[in-house]
Amino acid sequence: MKILGIESSHDDASVALLDNDSIVVMTSYSQIDIHAQFGGTIPEVASREHIKNFAFILEDLKSKGIDFTIVDAIAYTKEPGLLGSLQVGFLFASALAMFYNKPLIPINHLHGHFWSAAIEQNLKFPVLGLLLSGGHSQFILAKTPFNLELVGTTQDDALGEIYDKIARKLGLGFPGGPKIDKLNQEFTLNSSELINFTIPGQNPEFLLNFSFSGLKTQVINYIHKNKDKLDSKMQKNIAISFQKTIIKYLKSKINLALEIYPEIQTLTLMGGVAANLEIRQLIKSYEQLNTVVPKMQYCTDNGAMIAKAAQMKLVEENQ
Ligand code: KG4
Ligand code: ZN
Repeated sequence: MKILGIESSHDDASVALLDNDSIVVMTSYSQIDIHAQFGGTIPEVASREHIKNFAFILEDLKSKGIDFTIVDAIAYTKEPGLLGSLQVGFLFASALAMFYNKPLIPINHLHGHFWSAAIEQNLKFPVLGLLLSGGHSQFILAKTPFNLELVGTTQDDALGEIYDKIARKLGLGFPGGPKIDKLNQEFTLNSSELINFTIPGQNPEFLLNFSFSGLKTQVINYIHKNKDKLDSKMQKNIAISFQKTIIKYLKSKINLALEIYPEIQTLTLMGGVAANLEIRQLIKSYEQLNTVVPKMQYCTDNGAMIAKAAQMKLVEENQ
């Protein structure tokens, strides 16, 4: 079974060909350099860029000898995402499906992220997926491969957004996650340098839901209060202290999830924030579980995860 997966929900245009259990090819175009000039994604710009990028992708796939006539189905991201961006991907998928007379499979982007963990590994179920990106912060529980349940989500901002906002306030640039991650890898704070930000969302009613905006406000207030002293040392102390608070928070949430669902066999991490070294290490530290952190190209938005999710959808339909 050969499935073409097309992703365009945000600012990445990506197409991959899945042949049974392996990704034969994947071509992705990021727009990060363009949006970095504006300090964030401009939806109108994103859809216009997608139009150009899908044309490049098509040329690239053809030059690699990909024969669309042998594809069995074409999957695309239907939702959620930026409406204009989704529309471009849908039109690209529809044009290919019409021209080559192939069935179209609509895929939920979040299911795509969940299945990114299965691209190169067999998952042992039940699986708990932690999806952390610029648009989403969620726990997805799959007791079986065909029962994906949202068991926790952010009540306000997504974690990637928080990294970006704090880095911007600190003058570190966009996207903020990699900048804060780099400082955290390069420097270790001593106890007098560490700022004690409060771990967010400790209200027991929150269960597995997240709330990041309180921590964001705390950090931003701290920056404002100390703006006269904001040299590179202070910048570093704030960024690293924020990172440490996030680790404590994620750890407490994962621990709670494991208490609520002791049957969990596998813990996975997905989404762009999964690039964060300390968060990856946190996931790997759960040695009593199988832990899966996909390759970076499958953590950020990509066509392979959409093809994989479509494959699983077909397996379910044929059961
Ligand atoms: O999934 P993704 O590539 O795109 C969308 O959400 O559309 O995630 C992007 C987010 C950005 O907010 C970025 O700052 C964050 O992922 N990010 C990171 C790191 N690399 C990217 N956050 C923390 N640490 C990182 N190393
Ligand atoms: Zn995504």
